[in-house]
Amino acid sequence: MGTQKNVAIFVGSLRKESLNRKMAHALIGLAPPSLKMEIVEIGGLPLYNQDFDPDPPQPVRDFKQRVQAADAVLFITPEYNRSVPGVLKNAIDTASRPYGQSAWEGKPGAVISVSPGKIGGFGANHHLRQSMVFLDVPMMQQPEAYIGGAGELFDDKGGIANDSTRDLMQKFLQAFAQWIERNARK
Ligand code: FNR
Repeated sequence: MGTQKNVAIFVGSLRKESLNRKMAHALIGLAPPSLKMEIVEIGGLPLYNQDFDPDPPQPVRDFKQRVQAADAVLFITPEYNRSVPGVLKNAIDTASRPYGQSAWEGKPGAVISVSPGKIGGFGANHHLRQSMVFLDVPMMQQPEAYIGGAGELFDDKGGIANDSTRDLMQKFLQAFAQWIERNARK
């Protein structure tokens, strides 16, 4: 048994009633004792501009520091037009630069896509994986988590109302805890 690991959660939606944010809160409630999970906000970041690189604005510095301080990263995201929402892609790009100084490198990662639709954000899930391959983030392969029908998923206290999805999310977190232990850079 290792020590408790810090998991930074990035939610790919900024709206107040976001289903993805509900999922993030539900997961924080389900986390095993080995994981300390916290949402790192991405809504205050400026749109990434390569001119930032020599002297990044403070919100960019702070965000990169939060990513650097995490032992692992968890993306919980909707699908926009079959891909990753711009706000999340912006956060990923922001912490990846300047070239050679990416904050993502080597952090074990995982993704959960959440949608009211039937295919559970599959396109966003896999487009996100494509970027993380380049950024050298080992992304957990199994269990996969494409959560569809999310409009009916949460009870009025924000808990996951569906037993099989709650069970899947518990298994996902247990597997992720093991994935982090196995893939942590020494
Ligand atoms: C969507 N939505 C959507 N859903 C989906 O399953 N596949 C898709 O490609 C898209 N595309 C899309 C584009 C844009 C611009 C918007 C605003 C929405 C619907 C989306 O899944 C739904 O609004 C979710 O509720 C968004 O997640 P949050 O905000 O609830 O976390």
